[in-house]
Amino acid sequence: MTITPNTLSLSNLKPFIKWAGGRRALLPELLRLMPKDFNNYFEPFIGGGALFFELTKIGALNGKKAYLFDANAELINVYQTVKKHPKKLLKNLKEFQAKHSEEFYYITRAMDREPNFKSLPTEVRAARFIYLNKTCFNGLWRVNSKGYHNVPIGRYKNPTIYDEELIMAASIALQNAEIRHADFAKVLDYADKGDFVYFDPPYYPLNATSSFTAYHENAFLDEEQKRLYSVFKELADRGISVMHSNSDTEFIKELYKGYDIEFVEVNRFINSKSGGRGKIKEIAIINCKKGTQMTINDKIQRLALEYSVKLKTNIDERVADMQSDDKAHYLIYKVLGISAEDGELIDLYQNKGRFLYKYAGSFLEEATKLCFLEKFPKSGSSKVPNTEGVRPKTFEIDCLVNNEAFEIKWRDATTDGDHITKEHTRIKAIKQAGYKPMRIMFYYPNRAQAIKIQKTLETLYDGIGGEYYFGDAAWEYVKNKTGINLKLILEEIANKNFKA
Ligand SMILES: C[S@@+](CC[C@H](N)C(=O)[O-])C[C@H]1O[C@@H](n2cnc3c(N)ncnc32)[C@H](O)[C@@H]1O
Repeated sequence: MTITPNTLSLSNLKPFIKWAGGRRALLPELLRLMPKDFNNYFEPFIGGGALFFELTKIGALNGKKAYLFDANAELINVYQTVKKHPKKLLKNLKEFQAKHSEEFYYITRAMDREPNFKSLPTEVRAARFIYLNKTCFNGLWRVNSKGYHNVPIGRYKNPTIYDEELIMAASIALQNAEIRHADFAKVLDYADKGDFVYFDPPYYPLNATSSFTAYHENAFLDEEQKRLYSVFKELADRGISVMHSNSDTEFIKELYKGYDIEFVEVNRFINSKSGGRGKIKEIAIINCKKGTQMTINDKIQRLALEYSVKLKTNIDERVADMQSDDKAHYLIYKVLGISAEDGELIDLYQNKGRFLYKYAGSFLEEATKLCFLEKFPKSGSSKVPNTEGVRPKTFEIDCLVNNEAFEIKWRDATTDGDHITKEHTRIKAIKQAGYKPMRIMFYYPNRAQAIKIQKTLETLYDGIGGEYYFGDAAWEYVKNKTGINLKLILEEIANKNFKA
């Protein structure tokens, strides 16, 4: 069966297990640093798979093959089962969930002591793994010297073991993945020039007492980190893009001193004893200098990726915050004939919309500026003094290209007359500074009042010797001016994101 990942149905994709060292907090940084263009994807320390799931969700792995390895055999069995038998797994998870109790936890934990454990059906072993992961202390997966799970039960009242939709989405995501119980060095047998490998090994400890490396029976200390370095180097020498995240420690920095080391800041749960969260500096080592040799398509695609991550992060945070919002105002909604359910949705989308409009506007402005920059390397944002009044002291120019001062708008829904007065003053100051006011607006408003404002603005620009392009003419203008078909590039990205 081949299921093509569909970004729509995968929109809530994320790891379905808790994993020590999970990289969700680091995602925006990893997305910023990783290469934009690559053939196949490799994640040889898959753990909870935070980056793999994120890349699948945003469509960055469409049409590519993913190779996911881990040294933890039980974890790999989970991935293989989610891929091949999600329904059977869900049936078992339902049973485990129903039987949950302290006694059942310890019976389940002890299953690996039975001689027939490895011959149990894969879906039973996988359900056991997920069950223990969601009910044990801190989601830890720790085994003793005999390889037996030995984490005590966690203190959860009603732990949710699984989310059916998430398991089904993960199953779709895994269809194009080759999942193997293997040592990370196995990547050398598969990766080729043009591929991308992300290494996220157990971190090198920040201090001697740190238990960061205790994910499975073999700790990942100096010798293992050196072995990983030699694999990193060999891949890099073959022309493969490699990114490696680790702790900000002298040992690691010394090892990778020949490569580009980026510092990334994350909010991280530090350890169970201090119970503390804090900003921690970590590092990401990359063998490919980001930003070099990128085509304009690459640059815009990367910009889109960055914006989509920023947008999603902000929306998720806001939605989480909204859980604790006061809902007293629903009284008025109800008085006006709006039900509590509708009221909740309206509040939700109003909040989401605010972020979306803001990011859509600045994304399109930035993308247009990238086109100008490509053709006119000296172009960029600028300011002129306000020669018409005292406030504000200066006026912004979105992009100054030679003597043309561009105002770039994705759309302008303003209907207020003040807007015209301000814009009039601004363009007069621009003219005074010796520039020609130019206005580009990609989407023309629909409402009569807003259209009237645009018509007035057009007259103002005309009157002062400036130019104003909107709708199709705006796209066409950018194309003729820069030689770059921005609309086509954006259509390609949109299609990629929503490939059926
Ligand atoms: C830091 S975790 C990866 C976290 C993951 N990126 C995430 O988002 O959840 C490290 C993983 O490396 C695995 N591992 C440890 N030694 C390994 C080895 N020699 N080869 C492959 N995987 C190994 C561990 O089982 C663990 O799942």
